[in-house]
Amino acid sequence: MSLTAKFIVIEGIDGAGTTTQVALLHRALLDKGFKVLTTTEPSTGEIGSFLRNVLASRDTSWAAEELALLFTADRLDHIKREIKPALKKYHYIICDRYYHSTLAYQSKANGKNLDWLISINQPALKPALTFFLDIKVATALLRMARANRAQELFENENQLKRIHRNYHRVINELQKRGEAIIVLDGEASPQEILTAELKIIGGIS
Ligand SMILES: Nc1ncnc2c1ncn2[C@@H]1O[C@H](COP(=O)(O)OP(=O)(O)O)[C@@H](O)[C@H]1O
Ligand SMILES: [Mg+2]
Repeated sequence: MSLTAKFIVIEGIDGAGTTTQVALLHRALLDKGFKVLTTTEPSTGEIGSFLRNVLASRDTSWAAEELALLFTADRLDHIKREIKPALKKYHYIICDRYYHSTLAYQSKANGKNLDWLISINQPALKPALTFFLDIKVATALLRMARANRAQELFENENQLKRIHRNYHRVINELQKRGEAIIVLDGEASPQEILTAELKIIGGIS
């Protein structure tokens, strides 16, 4: 039987729990007997590695447009190297962040460059389903402080507030264009969020 994986994306501001949910969802779908591939942006490729270094070193010298082009180039590289070749081998491919992140992190507070960001991402494969884990900025800051991990480039209150507002604008715009994006309460427990995701995935399968 030939497989065509359903491509599922999990999104949210830093600390929203995307990495937690990707791992839980992976395990839950495996337990149901599906073949599942989990992957992450930035990717493990050359551009992705470069970008992870920019984020970790909090290098502020890059303009939003430069970062947008680099993240998008990494995405196309990721699709070509990992996602496309996996489509026929798995039932589900789950991706921790995707173009919604570029659209939210690299768009201006007034949303002026959003059309351009959407347009450079046109070549990217559209997800079958995207979950946006919605949490308050205050919750994100609290979780990051608790986890006691090194702060990255966008992980401060002002940036998170802008990115949080941008995500909602991005979701509205992409939903208007027909994308299936489900907003989930990221403040619920990991298990409750997983249950909600599985119910929705069951609905599209
Ligand atoms: N639903 C949740 N409720 C409470 N804490 C959570 C939840 N999901 C994740 N966390 C915690 O919040 C922190 C950030 O989670 P993580 O999955 O790394 O987020 P992200 O990948 O979106 O930055 C971790 O310490 C994690 O254990
Ligand atoms: Mg993460």
